[in-house]
Amino acid sequence: MVLFVKRVGIVGGGAMGSQIADIMAINGKEVIVKDVSEEFLKKTKENIEKNLNDLLEFNLTRADKEITRIEKSTQIKLTDEQKEKIRETLKPKFTESLKKEASDRIQTTTSYEEFSEVDLVIEAIVENTKLKQEVFSELDKHTPTHAILATNTSSLSITEVASATNKPEKVLGMHFFNPPITLPLIEIIPGIETSEETVNDIIDFMSTIRNHRYPMQPIKVKEVPGFLVNRILFAMMNEAYACYEDGVASMRDIDLAMRAGAGMPMGPFELSDLVGIDVIHHVQEEVRKMVGGNTMNQPSQTIRKLYHAGRHGKKTKRGFYDYR
Ligand code: NAI
Repeated sequence: MVLFVKRVGIVGGGAMGSQIADIMAINGKEVIVKDVSEEFLKKTKENIEKNLNDLLEFNLTRADKEITRIEKSTQIKLTDEQKEKIRETLKPKFTESLKKEASDRIQTTTSYEEFSEVDLVIEAIVENTKLKQEVFSELDKHTPTHAILATNTSSLSITEVASATNKPEKVLGMHFFNPPITLPLIEIIPGIETSEETVNDIIDFMSTIRNHRYPMQPIKVKEVPGFLVNRILFAMMNEAYACYEDGVASMRDIDLAMRAGAGMPMGPFELSDLVGIDVIHHVQEEVRKMVGGNTMNQPSQTIRKLYHAGRHGKKTKRGFYDYR
């Protein structure tokens, strides 16, 4: 059976959940976002509004920015005809009315009652197996039997999360990358009981979805600690933390080195603050429990200290850097 997704449920409207809701809505899906309180949902709606406004602004100003960029880099004044051609090619694909339609497709709730007609649920609550299992047990009761249930976990076992339901064949990992509105990769991770059909349905579905910039790029990844990207990325990040702890260079210079010398768009400390020190700490702890330091080094002492000091990165206005 080919999955037809009309309505998507999102559990957890934080950094990731709010952006995933936005992506689904701009792709024409009805979206219902659940969080624990109206206060959290207010923040979710503000995040979505801000991101949709940014997308609108990007679309409306893109052509003029491109004209300025060309004129500046070539030192040649473009003719009106050339400018018109650029404006035609880069004509806004996202408009005020599309923005309104997308906003109107997103509803919020604090209960599971409104999940009775979803075709797909993406869970994005805190990184904790027990809490995720509680959510999946509720989803099992409140969603239709055909619905696929996905977790956006960065590190936890899909099989363990799926064990809280009576349909583990319909449960899998859909690991988006931060910020999902611009990063197109999504790791699709089957648990041990996930059916081939569920995996194929989600890969086919995600291949039809675009974020704010690109078509989404789903890849199938085996259920191993850290999955694929984080397994590689965290090995590098741990080395950067170790260099900082050993005094090899300053934090700013390590970030500069990896941007200017290794071509990374962001340095490891800037990236850590964006991802969230709490998320990195949870991921490292979970991976350590699973593999005992087999594929990645032991969690960094600096991450541990920042985590316990409540310096969780941009979201708390302090992490490696100070954003106050
Ligand atoms: P966050 O802390 O920004 O958001 C979590 C949200 O879940 C909060 O709004 C919280 O109120 C809500 N929540 C907690 N328990 C809930 C429940 N029982 N029902 C409904 N809502 C509940 O966290 P973030 O960064 O969005 O991460 C969410 C998940 O996505 C985690 O599993 C994380 O590992 C994963 N992830 C995070 C990435 C990142 O860079 N931040 C990247 C990829 C995955």
